Amino acid sequence: MSKIRAAITGVHGYLPDYILTNAELEQMVDTNDQWIQTRTGIQERRILKGEGKGTSTMGIEAVKGLLEKTGTAPEEISLMICATVTPDMQFPDTANLIADAVGIRNGFCFDLHAACSGFLYALTTASRFIESGGHKKVIVIGADKMSSIVDYTDRSTCILFGDGAAAVMLEPDTEGFGLRDSLLRSDGAGHVFLYQKAGGSRYPAQPETVARREHFVYQNGAPVFKAAVSGMAEVVGQVMQRNGLSVDDVSWVVPHQANRRIIEQVARMASFPLEKMMINIHKFGNTTAATIPLCLWEWENRLKPGDNLILTAFGGGFTWGAIYVKWAY
Ligand code: UT7
Repeated sequence: MSKIRAAITGVHGYLPDYILTNAELEQMVDTNDQWIQTRTGIQERRILKGEGKGTSTMGIEAVKGLLEKTGTAPEEISLMICATVTPDMQFPDTANLIADAVGIRNGFCFDLHAACSGFLYALTTASRFIESGGHKKVIVIGADKMSSIVDYTDRSTCILFGDGAAAVMLEPDTEGFGLRDSLLRSDGAGHVFLYQKAGGSRYPAQPETVARREHFVYQNGAPVFKAAVSGMAEVVGQVMQRNGLSVDDVSWVVPHQANRRIIEQVARMASFPLEKMMINIHKFGNTTAATIPLCLWEWENRLKPGDNLILTAFGGGFTWGAIYVKWAY
């Protein structure tokens, strides 16, 4: 029997309506549109507004749309993984909250935290369940409400991030489509450059941690930038080499959207023309775990069965990786 692989058979996303422009950020911190655009490529990002709305609010919309467009009943889903660093609560997992809202009750659901590489880690994990033969329909979500952990007085981070969610359906395939290779890496030594200090077990929420603004994202951007470029270029090269893929064989590279200059440098190092790079950072900024599935959603109508895609990401941890997917529809 031919090998069972996990094919992506649908994708759907959700972006909040509110648009936070560079002009509005100019009113909030000492920055300007020109700096933001030339240093990051970002023009605007979406923000989820409203009391009591969390990452699950967006995940629910993405999953509802995915179930509808793939004609799937919630009872058919045996596993759902939500990649996020901004769960609604410490526990239960946001995946459980989404499952409850959409009626998924015949499977198991959990969150996976791997920052900006979360979607790649979750996609790889979910694929192993499909490849085992024991699961027929599995959902992977990438969702983050970054505005809940961004310090809007810190100009070096508040211009970067946005909110969004997107989800993919995975089903078994024996025709050669689907996830064909995955190379995931992590290096915990990177934790000093990108983290949210308080709110976990080491520094639980206290008036002092709030006063010291420790519940927000801290980033030392320059070392993260350097490690992101070299890390992604390296794993993209390795995945292509071990699968015998040339630049011409690859239809699209789907990079994490953290900074347009990072994407351009990875493209240059891996010898890809920019036309093959999916880029929408100008519209949505860095939505952390959601960037890659949001790109797939936006490009869905341009993808054809058999297209070779290389997904790649780098983020907090450090975590990074590259995945080779043969598009199935
Ligand atoms: O997705 C997770 C992984 N994250 C990433 O991949 C992000 C990686 N890092 C980056 O994208 C970039 O490092 C940033 C966009 C965060 C920063 O860009 P940079 O070119 O590395 O700038 P910098 O931090 O070296 O700062 C250069 C200057 C500084 O001023 P001085 O010290 O030279 O006077 C900053 O204070 O730019 C200043 N600056 C700003 N100026 C205007 C920093 N942020 C701003 C701002 N507006 N928003």
